Amino acid sequence: MKALVLAGGSGTRLRPITHTQAKQLVPVANKPVLFYGLESIASAGIRDVGIVVGDTQAEIEAAVGDGSAFGLEVTYLRQEAPLGLAHAVLIARDYLGGDDFVMYLGDNFIVGGIDALVERFRAERPSAQIMLTRVPDPRQFGVAELDADGRVVGLEEKPREPKSDLAMVGVYLFTPAVHEAVAELKPSWRGELEITDAIQWLIDSGRAVQSTLITGYWKDTGNVADMLEVNRLVLESLEPRVEGDVSDSELIGRVAVEAGASVRGSRIVGPVVIGSGTVIEDSYIGPFTSVAMDCRVSGSEIEYSIVLARSSIEGVRRIEASLIGHDVEVTPAPNTPRAHRLVLGDHSKVQISQ
Ligand code: DAU
Repeated sequence: MKALVLAGGSGTRLRPITHTQAKQLVPVANKPVLFYGLESIASAGIRDVGIVVGDTQAEIEAAVGDGSAFGLEVTYLRQEAPLGLAHAVLIARDYLGGDDFVMYLGDNFIVGGIDALVERFRAERPSAQIMLTRVPDPRQFGVAELDADGRVVGLEEKPREPKSDLAMVGVYLFTPAVHEAVAELKPSWRGELEITDAIQWLIDSGRAVQSTLITGYWKDTGNVADMLEVNRLVLESLEPRVEGDVSDSELIGRVAVEAGASVRGSRIVGPVVIGSGTVIEDSYIGPFTSVAMDCRVSGSEIEYSIVLARSSIEGVRRIEASLIGHDVEVTPAPNTPRAHRLVLGDHSKVQISQ
């Protein structure tokens, strides 16, 4: 059995962060989202992984390498444009050969891994096995309709009027039967070859399509609110450790200060992770915050946020529910005139309190 991990696409909902970074590499608790998926695949006993990449290929390759750090053997599969999830299967046809495979969307986050799912698939080998979960707004997802016996009878991609609240999770298991379906597809209204349509094709041609309802935690980390939520969840189980220097400071709860970080005259209320090389001084860092490496937070307060590498926050009270990119500087404006001075990248979003 192989894995096909999708790490192409354009990440429009995470702009401007994704102008300069692949969305699958945005860190959660200081580790790229994609790495959690690769770890789950390795834990399920799968070794051969094809990673579908697009414009951000170089960056993904630099982060994942040959996969040996995860116990995997990675092959990169170039997709010229993000033409859909089923298009990714199409271009991976030769790589996948006659093997069964798990398809894993690189921006999905599933707590508890995929071991049980893979085990069930190996035992029963339906043509396709999908995972469903109840969501408040199914219109943003692929949506499944089940019959009275719980069998999947219909699937629709981002329907305007969803027939249920059961969203398709971004992990799918397939036998090679899916290649027949993919070969028959036409682009959808949004111009993509949809994996949802491929699975519908399997249902329509009488193949076995199984679904599992998951009640555990799942998020598509495509937008900032979800990203912050996943970060919160991962930090909940953070192992507290202090490998950096801490002086005149109070650390409360689950706090990880990585080697080479320095915390002075500050109060940190966990769960919080502080990356290596980062300096925190005269500041308050509140729960559910991840500060990446080589940052500087001084005379500031920040809570429930993600700060990416090499950014500095100086003299700012107070930042909440924020995703701050790489090499960003946040400072207070002068008192007079009372004005905000902004240098914002394209597609930035700022909320300013008056
Ligand atoms: O997250 C679950 C949802 O994922 C499902 O409910 C939907 O049925 C499914 O279509 C998908 O919807 P999204 O609109 O969220 O997919 P997105 O365009 O964000 O792509 C998912 C991942 O696949 C992302 O890591 C980028 C990558 N990708 C995407 C496309 C369209 C590729 O590598 N190549 C592509 O052509």
